[in-house]
Amino acid sequence: MQLLTFDTLPSTNDYIREHILEFADNTAVFADKQTNGKGRVGKKWESPNGQLCFSMLVKNGDPIGITHLFAVIVCEVLRKFCSKKVQVGIKWCNDIVIDIDGNYKKICGILCEKIGTDIIVGIGINLNVADSYFAEHGLPNAGSLHLETDKSVIRDLVIAEYEYHNKPFVDVLSRYKTLCVNVGKPVKVIYPTRIVYGNAVDITDKGELYCADENGGYFTVNSGEVSVRGITDYV
Ligand code: ATP
Ligand code: BTN
Repeated sequence: MQLLTFDTLPSTNDYIREHILEFADNTAVFADKQTNGKGRVGKKWESPNGQLCFSMLVKNGDPIGITHLFAVIVCEVLRKFCSKKVQVGIKWCNDIVIDIDGNYKKICGILCEKIGTDIIVGIGINLNVADSYFAEHGLPNAGSLHLETDKSVIRDLVIAEYEYHNKPFVDVLSRYKTLCVNVGKPVKVIYPTRIVYGNAVDITDKGELYCADENGGYFTVNSGEVSVRGITDYV
C-alpha cells in the first residue's frame, strides 16, 4: 500500500481521480484539511478541522460491495475507540451514525466513485469537531465522536482492515445487517420524484434495503439517487 499525505487538498477523491493512471491498487491519499470536499450526488461535504479525510483506490472493484465493506470496517474500527454509551452504526447505505439516547447523528460519510473499472473510496470521519460548527453550517443531522485519538491511528487501522480482510461478501453482509440501524425501523424512502413509506426488514444478498410496504407487499431500495430517512427524524 502506498500512502500519500498532504496538509491541504481540495478533495482527496478528486486527487486520486486526477492521478488515477499513475496510482497502483490500494493507493491511499490523506489530507489534513479539504477545501472542496464532495458528498454523494454532487452534494457538498464540509471538512472542518478535526475531521479525518482520506481516499483509497480500489482497482477492479464493485461499488456496492465496496461501500458495504468499508461501512462495516469503519463502523467496527470506530466502535473500538468509543465508549459503550456511544452506539456507532450504519445508516443504509453509506453513512455512519451515532445513537446517543435515540438521537442519531451522522459522524461519517463514505463516497464510492466508479471510474471505468476502478473505484475511488472516500471517507470523512468527524473525529473531533465542535458541535457548534454543524449548527453554524446548517447541518442539523451531523455530529462528532469527540475522540482525541490521533487521525493517523484510525486511518491506518481502517486501511489495514481493508488490506487484510478476506471474508466473502455474504459474511460482510451479515455483519452489515447487524450494524445497520435502519433494519427493524420505519423508513421514509426519498426518490427524486416521490416518497415511499415502509418498514425496513432486512438487507438482501445484493446489499439492498428490503422493506415492507403499507399494503402488505415488499420493495427493495438500491443505492443511487435515493435517501433513506426515519419517518420524522434522520433515522
Ligand atoms: P441520505 O442518504 O439520507 O440523503 P445524507 O443527507 O447524509 O443522507 P449523503 O448524500 O449521504 O446525504 O451525504 C451528504 C450530506 O452530508 C450533505 O448534503 C450534508 O447534508 C451532509 N454533510 C456535509 N458535511 C458533513 C459533515 N462534515 N458531517 C456530517 N454530515 C455532513
Ligand atoms: C457522503 O456522505 O455523501 C459522502 C461523504 C464523503 C466525504 C469524503 S472526505 C474524503 C473524500 N474526499 C471527498 O471529497 N469526499 C470524500
